[in-house]
Amino acid sequence: MSLFLVDREKCLRDGVCVDECPRFIIEMKDEDSYPVPIHGADELCINCGHCVTVCPSGALSLKTMTPESCPTVRADLLPTAEQVDHLLRSRRSIRAFEDRTVPREVLAGLIDIARYAPSGSNRQPVEWLVIYEPRDVRRLARLVEDWMRDGSGAGSYASSLARATEKGLDLICRGAPHVVIAHTPKGQESNGVIALTYLELAAYSLGLGTCWGGFINNAANNWPPLRQALALPEGRASCGAMLLGYPRHKYQRVPLRNEARITWR
Ligand SMILES: Cc1cc2nc3c(=O)[nH]c(=O)nc-3n(C[C@H](O)[C@H](O)[C@H](O)COP(=O)(O)O)c2cc1C
Repeated sequence: MSLFLVDREKCLRDGVCVDECPRFIIEMKDEDSYPVPIHGADELCINCGHCVTVCPSGALSLKTMTPESCPTVRADLLPTAEQVDHLLRSRRSIRAFEDRTVPREVLAGLIDIARYAPSGSNRQPVEWLVIYEPRDVRRLARLVEDWMRDGSGAGSYASSLARATEKGLDLICRGAPHVVIAHTPKGQESNGVIALTYLELAAYSLGLGTCWGGFINNAANNWPPLRQALALPEGRASCGAMLLGYPRHKYQRVPLRNEARITWR
């Protein structure tokens, strides 16, 4: 079978699929002809599905994707620009969590959304590690603390760590019941950071609280005992660790931030 099939009854020959293809592997010989794959298109296609999903008449099917298998974009479900603006500005890092767990299905649902984050060449290299049990999260926090105390990474946080330890508080995981780690092959970590950002925003929209665990991520990539404890597969790097749970407090206002520094050219 060819890389894609075009239903000639439906095709409008509008060239939309040609315009949107990231690799320029769809061509129309002239205005009246139907779209066809260029020679060698199979090897170049990144299977992004744009040709299938942009076609207004649902005329094009990839070997791997038909229009019918792809959900319809619902304009009525899209938030307004004002709602998106407020969602993004009002999201906060949460550092106090309720003492209850989030159902596994909810976490799985967040990860299911995060897999729609963009990825370089649509490689979709992100995999997930969920530390679900709160006792395992505590164990993780203690390991990271050990790493910090060994002098490897506490820096200006050394005194905060000492204060937290003295009071029996958790500087690393802040009492969050769960930690979600995204990992990718080394060198592709930006894909995981973007996916975690999707997850964080989706979590906020569900009333959940999140906070990036920078020390966990650093230790996961640089401290063999933690790497072993997490059992990250060989050749893969942690992209980030997200603390997650139900927030104990509600933020009332949006804090001020620096003005954007922009160079226009
Ligand atoms: C890469 C990264 C690592 C972070 N690591 C930590 C961390 O280890 N502990 C923590 O309490 N907050 C951490 N944060 C949260 C930041 O402190 C927080 O984003 C910042 O203070 C702004 O607050 P906001 O997220 O509520 O706007 C991290 C954030 C990012 C983006």
